[in-house]
Amino acid sequence: MKKRVGILISGRGSNMRALIEAAKEKDYPAEIVLVISNVADASGLEFARGNGIEAQVIEHKKFPSREIFDNAMDVALNAANVEIVALAGFMRLLSPRFVEKWHGRMINIHPSLLPAYKGLHTHKRAIEAGEKFAGCTVHFVTPELDDGPAILQAQVPVLPGDSEDTLAARVLEQEHRIYPQALRLVAEGKAKL
Ligand code: GAR
Repeated sequence: MKKRVGILISGRGSNMRALIEAAKEKDYPAEIVLVISNVADASGLEFARGNGIEAQVIEHKKFPSREIFDNAMDVALNAANVEIVALAGFMRLLSPRFVEKWHGRMINIHPSLLPAYKGLHTHKRAIEAGEKFAGCTVHFVTPELDDGPAILQAQVPVLPGDSEDTLAARVLEQEHRIYPQALRLVAEGKAKL
């Protein structure tokens, strides 16, 4: 049985797209059954719907607190019988209660070689620090931001003359490669928290 996966996005959704494409493979152990965006005009929503996947907007702005917003997402995920949650450019902090509920069943992709460069503006900070390498990490989500155990990482060089954009593009290519691989490992039970 394929694992039922819900993806949370906030924008472009290129990582979501990589997961949707990978899940089209017959022997892929997961299927994408729901996409939720906290931003109404996230461009990723269109792609999901175009692929026959239910895509819901749950706007954080419309909820009185983070906990109540998270609970609305939890209700939607459970209604779709989601078993694994994949964060893909989802730019909201999650409440401890939500993280606890999905313990071991929620993964995230972050554009740095964690534990280096948690948080925002990872590429800008890596260039400014004169790093020779940058990269991305897929990890289990734990209550501390960008802190859970890594499942897969990919490394790329930082090249002379790199801007934030050129480095981000080089890393993004690797994100699209390792996120489907990491989701596969989790869905097959080969990577566990
Ligand atoms: C990706 O680079 C992802 O790693 C990053 O946002 C981008 C989303 O792009 N995530 C974070 O910074 C999480 N803290 P996408 O919407 O095209 O997948």
